[in-house]
Amino acid sequence: MMGMKVAKHVDQLRDIIRFWRGQGLKIGFVPTMGYLHEGHQSLIRRAAEENDKVVVSVFVNQMQFGPNEDFDAYPRDFDRDCQKCEEAGADLVFHPDNEDMYEEDFITYVDMTGLTQGLCGKTRPIHFRGVCTIVTKLFNLVTPDRAYFGQKDAQQLAVITRMARDLNMNIEIIGCPIVREDDGLAKSSRNTYLSAEEREAALVLSKALRAAKEKIEAGEKSAEVIQNFLKEAIETEPLAKVDYASAVTWPALEEKEYMEGEMLVAVAVYIGKTRLIDNVIVDIAE
Ligand code: PAJ
Repeated sequence: MMGMKVAKHVDQLRDIIRFWRGQGLKIGFVPTMGYLHEGHQSLIRRAAEENDKVVVSVFVNQMQFGPNEDFDAYPRDFDRDCQKCEEAGADLVFHPDNEDMYEEDFITYVDMTGLTQGLCGKTRPIHFRGVCTIVTKLFNLVTPDRAYFGQKDAQQLAVITRMARDLNMNIEIIGCPIVREDDGLAKSSRNTYLSAEEREAALVLSKALRAAKEKIEAGEKSAEVIQNFLKEAIETEPLAKVDYASAVTWPALEEKEYMEGEMLVAVAVYIGKTRLIDNVIVDIAE
């Protein structure tokens, strides 16, 4: 192994990037909030295949958390994250402090007027403003050629893709498939919050989505029928409470009475106090 570097400060990061740029190297970037798992590692591996150098950021971005959300409780283990990064082929981990990223008198935001109101935006109204702002800042620092995002956060992937296009960021945004546990649960840093009983109950998300996908493949075209089907399927699980169950166009995220083309079928579900998300993208045949 070549020896992975760690940059804690903006200046250290910029120096390394400048050096690589001087050599004409292609840079791939994987932004994360840490507590890394196979899902994150799949993005890092893909980035390592497609670029000369791979930068991973590990930063729990308070700006994208609502006041009653889990910013303080969010799991953190930087030493373990470094091992996972190196194992997956990262060349540099950027791990700034809050003070490094946000000056005390910070007042500039990147916001969108569409795409961010539905799905997760309904119950998390400031979330995507925080995501767009930090991702823009990280893009400006890392200046990647390509950036990798998981379909696990499908709305985030759609939002970042649109932001990069709208603002001429000249970065290729690459979406990567959802990595799951053997039993179907989508891997997530937040799965660590689940008790054994809740872990079992959490299977209801992927099961319901799989059943909905089968229903669509069998010819169901009504978005409403699919949404109700998902809600009912999820609420058979006593520990589960549906935040939303939606079928919208992909990647424009528009509601449609009758589904056609590529559709994002997505759910957000509370299992006890833990909010989990999962989705599938279905291509509906004519
Ligand atoms: P985080 O939740 O750490 O996720 C970092 C990246 O890993 C995201 O692109 C996410 O979609 C991807 N990912 C997470 N679980 C995955 C899985 N099971 N399979 C495939 N990919 C998965 O998303 C964020 O952080 C933040 O919002 C961030 C973009 C870093 C901005 O703060």
